[in-house]
Amino acid sequence: MTTKEAIISILEENKGLYISGEDIGKNLNISRSAVSKVIKDLKENGYLIESINKKGHCIPYKSNTISKIEIKKNLINNHEIIIKDSVKSTNLEAKSHLLDECKHGSIIIANEQTNGRGRKGRVFYSPKDTGIYMSLILKPDLLLIHNPLKLTIATAVAVCNSIDTLCDVDTKIKWVNDIFLNNKKICGILTEANTDFETGSIEDIIIGIGLNFNTLNFPEDFSDIAGSIFSEKTTPINRNQLIAEIINNIMKLLKDLENPNILKFYKEKSFLLGKNISFYEKDKKIECTVLDINSEGNLVIKTKNGLKKILHSGEVNFNW
Ligand code: BTN
Repeated sequence: MTTKEAIISILEENKGLYISGEDIGKNLNISRSAVSKVIKDLKENGYLIESINKKGHCIPYKSNTISKIEIKKNLINNHEIIIKDSVKSTNLEAKSHLLDECKHGSIIIANEQTNGRGRKGRVFYSPKDTGIYMSLILKPDLLLIHNPLKLTIATAVAVCNSIDTLCDVDTKIKWVNDIFLNNKKICGILTEANTDFETGSIEDIIIGIGLNFNTLNFPEDFSDIAGSIFSEKTTPINRNQLIAEIINNIMKLLKDLENPNILKFYKEKSFLLGKNISFYEKDKKIECTVLDINSEGNLVIKTKNGLKKILHSGEVNFNW
């Protein structure tokens, strides 16, 4: 751990309390002025640290800064983590990162996205300080993927499980991988592949996760559908804890995507089963009822004319 990391760790552990430069220095076996220098540097790099003469330094409770150290503290595996304050899109950032040698399990996280991307070319609203916007890079040769839908399903299960466990809520999944809380969408997942043009083989998979953590206000276009895990500025857990939990859970499930318990949990959480939905087939709106989610993760539906069909992918709309 570097001195910088050790100082953040001390302040994070004592969040809300002032610790004198002298005490920090004694703890780390460095001088008070060395502590001041590091704190100055941290502040210049965007860390929210308050300093009061004769009292010391403090990371205030209101701080919800995304911090590599805090994430790593709770991560089971060793991941390369890149944190950016503001990017267009972490999935785009991940793609440009792939140009360099990049390890399985690398994570790009941003505090804000100015052009967050959703499925079907939609925008994912990504304001600063209140959301989790991250992309996980996976090398498919290190995974056993027989059916890409299983990866999508496992990601939704991991995210759902992490939110429920840490935030004490009961999320629901809308096939394939939108996550809802109290009938509002709180999380979207965009999985993209980076393909070798000549061989057509998938070189990398990018799982982009966008989560409204404590986003209190949404623009009009989103306000009907979008929600947030927390509806207060102060939250019982911080974004770093949830990020680590999500990554741990995804990595755990990736070890065995065929584990039937993944689909079992997914079905238990799915709020489309038995519901009336609609989808578009060549511009034609089809209304139907959801019968099941089969062992491959496909949606089994029955149209109004009694026709049974299997949907492999695509967007379905819930008739509220
Ligand atoms: C959807 O709801 O249609 C999917 C939304 C996915 C949003 C995440 S945020 C992190 C990553 N970067 C992006 O630009 N999009 C994904």
